[in-house]
Amino acid sequence: MAKSVFISNVLPEQARALIPADYGVDYNDTDSPLPKAELIRRLRGKDALICHIISTIDEEVLAGAPGLKAVCNVAVGFNNIDVAACKERGVVVTNTPDVLTETTADFAWALLMAAARRVVEADRFARSGQWTRWQWDLLWGNDVYGKTLGVIGFGRIGRAVARRALGFNMRVLYHDTVRADAAAERELKATYMDRDALLRESDFVSLHTLLIPETRHLIDERTLRLMKPTAILVNAARGPIVDEAALVRALKERWIAAAGLDVFEEEPKIHPELLSLTNVTLAPHIASASLDTRLAMANLAVRNCLAVLEGKPAITPVS
Ligand code: GLV
Repeated sequence: MAKSVFISNVLPEQARALIPADYGVDYNDTDSPLPKAELIRRLRGKDALICHIISTIDEEVLAGAPGLKAVCNVAVGFNNIDVAACKERGVVVTNTPDVLTETTADFAWALLMAAARRVVEADRFARSGQWTRWQWDLLWGNDVYGKTLGVIGFGRIGRAVARRALGFNMRVLYHDTVRADAAAERELKATYMDRDALLRESDFVSLHTLLIPETRHLIDERTLRLMKPTAILVNAARGPIVDEAALVRALKERWIAAAGLDVFEEEPKIHPELLSLTNVTLAPHIASASLDTRLAMANLAVRNCLAVLEGKPAITPVS
């Protein structure tokens, strides 16, 4: 019988064209999350789902699609999917690592630089008509070159962020649950450090962990208070890794100097007080959003889906 796939949100034509013509495809071409009931209804009888992080795939959704063989996320993060429930039902879960590593690392650096050198404030000021004379103390920021970068989560993206720091002659500290091998530490000139010590010593802290119960609110009042008052926090991983209310207090009361955030606790809602602070640079979850990378992510998700449906191993399964 012909295979059937549900694509629950917008996906480029180029990626959809990889799906053989004899497959049945139900395609929701919008970028709004589907109501759960509609997701369940349209998933019924399908062999695979290709979805984005705006689709929550939990036990209830899976129960409505007993024939499902694959859930293919168009993202490297997969906290929108109950992976254990999928495993129990024999549903393969895939994500899109590697293809977005460098693009995401570039964007973490864009946030770091923007927050350090107050680029967004400068842009607003330059447009505002207030720039009427030379000012000695106009928009002073923080140096990046030669400073200390702390990377929390030393997987592919964390390492790509660390690699960029070599060009800025930075001291690189990292923390992860598993220490990197000596060759990686040497190549990236990175020093493993206990998390609290890293927070105390870093001028910039960039977060690159998965969102799992152990990393929820990893940055909270206690850990923010460990950071230097001149430190800058960057989060291009997942919003709930940071306790946003505590971060608001930290930025207002200057426990830390600034932050650059691409992700938020309750996206697309942003804590209202963050919106009025000038020492935070905000972005709407776009770290992987380059044309090439988004296409590569979509293609990889489709190729994962086809592999599973053809009885082959997934290319990038979530283990
Ligand atoms: C984006 O947030 C991703 O996980 O790829």
